[in-house]
Amino acid sequence: MINKFLRSLRRINLLIEPTLRHYIVLIRIWYFVRLRGQLHTLESQNAVKANVMHNLKSLYGANNRTNLLIYPLAIIETLNVNSQILVIGPRNENDLFALKGLGFKLKNIVGLDLISYSKHIKLGDMHQIPFPNESFDAIICGWTLSYSTDPFLAASEMIRVTRPGGIVGIGVEYSTMGPDDEKKLLGYQIQEFEKIGARVNSTAQILALFKDKVDHVYFNHDAPRGVSHSSSGLVENVSNVAVVFSIKERS
Ligand SMILES: C[S@@+](CC[C@H](N)C(=O)[O-])C[C@H]1O[C@@H](n2cnc3c(N)ncnc32)[C@H](O)[C@@H]1O
Repeated sequence: MINKFLRSLRRINLLIEPTLRHYIVLIRIWYFVRLRGQLHTLESQNAVKANVMHNLKSLYGANNRTNLLIYPLAIIETLNVNSQILVIGPRNENDLFALKGLGFKLKNIVGLDLISYSKHIKLGDMHQIPFPNESFDAIICGWTLSYSTDPFLAASEMIRVTRPGGIVGIGVEYSTMGPDDEKKLLGYQIQEFEKIGARVNSTAQILALFKDKVDHVYFNHDAPRGVSHSSSGLVENVSNVAVVFSIKERS
């Protein structure tokens, strides 16, 4: 009886708890970056110029908005705890550990980012994903596409490395800010509007990047409150755009 109880205690996954998870993430960043000097960055010709500078400012931050992508993965029945998952743009280990908290195995989860301090995050560019075709059962790309000056290329790379029938989840912040608003708020511009034309700002725009490869849309969260940061300041609960869908099987 006691043994059974102790065995069940060992199965409790503490990483599901966001505050505890964040502390673990913070301690590991401090250890690997400050103590071991293990921070590496990469430039991409298809990323906005401000990317690394801007994202390093919040390296220690953990934002649980990626739950919009991670929670659907945990309940879609074509995935299971052994699924191979690519996390594009995790910035730190929080997204990866949140997936582990939901039961996925850490050995099957890999991050890809232009910033890395962790063996779980491969340094690389989503416009040239360093993995063979059809490597993953699922890909999530949370709050990262807006740093691309060529989101079509990023989407085509995601299609290439997802297995047919696999799942893709993309999230971006909903925003009505233009270049002048960004400069006023931050002192610099993030999005290179002259290259992208318009910001990817709705689930329809995300799905359009994947064209006829989109099969079933499992989750469509199209910034229902429509709240954006503005040049006069950040709002506490900014809206988010998130969509989770499957990639068509080859015909
Ligand atoms: C805003 S953070 C998102 C962190 C986390 N996923 C979240 O939603 O809170 C965006 C991350 O995407 C990474 N990133 C930007 N462009 C990238 C690219 N071309 N390839 C891979 N990662 C990229 C940035 O370095 C950064 O770590």
